[in-house]
Amino acid sequence: MKVYGGIKLYAGTASPELATKVADYLGESLCGRDIVEFPNQNLFVKLHSSVRGQDVYVIQHTAAPVHRNLMELLILLQTLKLDSAARVTAVIPYLCYGRSDKKDQPRVPITARLVADMIQIAGADRYMTLDPHSFQIQGFFSIPGDVLNAQYLLINYVNRNLRADLHEPVVVTVDLGYAKKGRNFAAGIDAPIAFIEKRRVANDAKAQALTVIGEVQDRDVVLVDDEIDTGGSIVQAVELVKENGARRVYVAFLHPVFSGDAVERLAALPVAEYITTDSIPIPPDKARLLGDRLTILSVAPLLGEVIRRAHEGRSVGQLFNE
Ligand code: R5P
Repeated sequence: MKVYGGIKLYAGTASPELATKVADYLGESLCGRDIVEFPNQNLFVKLHSSVRGQDVYVIQHTAAPVHRNLMELLILLQTLKLDSAARVTAVIPYLCYGRSDKKDQPRVPITARLVADMIQIAGADRYMTLDPHSFQIQGFFSIPGDVLNAQYLLINYVNRNLRADLHEPVVVTVDLGYAKKGRNFAAGIDAPIAFIEKRRVANDAKAQALTVIGEVQDRDVVLVDDEIDTGGSIVQAVELVKENGARRVYVAFLHPVFSGDAVERLAALPVAEYITTDSIPIPPDKARLLGDRLTILSVAPLLGEVIRRAHEGRSVGQLFNE
């Protein structure tokens, strides 16, 4: 039984290339819309055609400029809802405020929850996202969602392109928070795991002692993390594994957030290759700094396939078993 009309794909201004690749995967075109910013910074959205009764997907990451991108997403969702779309899905390759997911000190907000509330209030019936900082963020939404793990893209790349040449590889997580996902990564490339432990040694955010738990001496190291933001964690991690006798170092991570001078810092490190995804576009001038040491794997086929299955009412879990 056909419940919805066709698939309609919209992109905000944050993810045009990724959205175009998703559309190509599905054999669709992106729908036209105007997004205008007035002199007072208020945004205005207008759809070029009706979405009444359609199954609509809005693709927009919410990395920098975070508030502009988030607001655009919210306004797009509301516009589609008010135009009587049958179902609206927010497709958010990178979800902002993921690290603000608990009250871990007095008098602070849980902003990830606020963002989830706003997405729902704006009109999303469903959402889709990739590797949020913690998967428990699902609990902040009361609408159904597909919270996807794109780590297999990195694992497949390592297995197909690097694994055979790696000398006694070991997967190292940059902190203990990523231990469980790091273990899955290590199992995926059939390598042992090691962890970096950070300990506060004084009442100053920067005063930390770092230790490697596990064996890196004379091994090729694959450092793994969910995102690189300022690059601080990865710089420390690379220096530490090198001090502990690592041979070549590779860095695999899902979201290239790259705030401030992160890329400049990465460019200066003795890292053989950075492997990441296009969940957030990397400006060409930044990508150039890393040259052929940067490999970007596209999440478009994953998002496209999940959209197709969601539209057709088919299992998404099955996709990961195939
Ligand atoms: C932290 O918990 C995350 O997993 C990343 O390690 C963190 O977001 C990286 O941030 P930065 O690049 O600023 O050190």
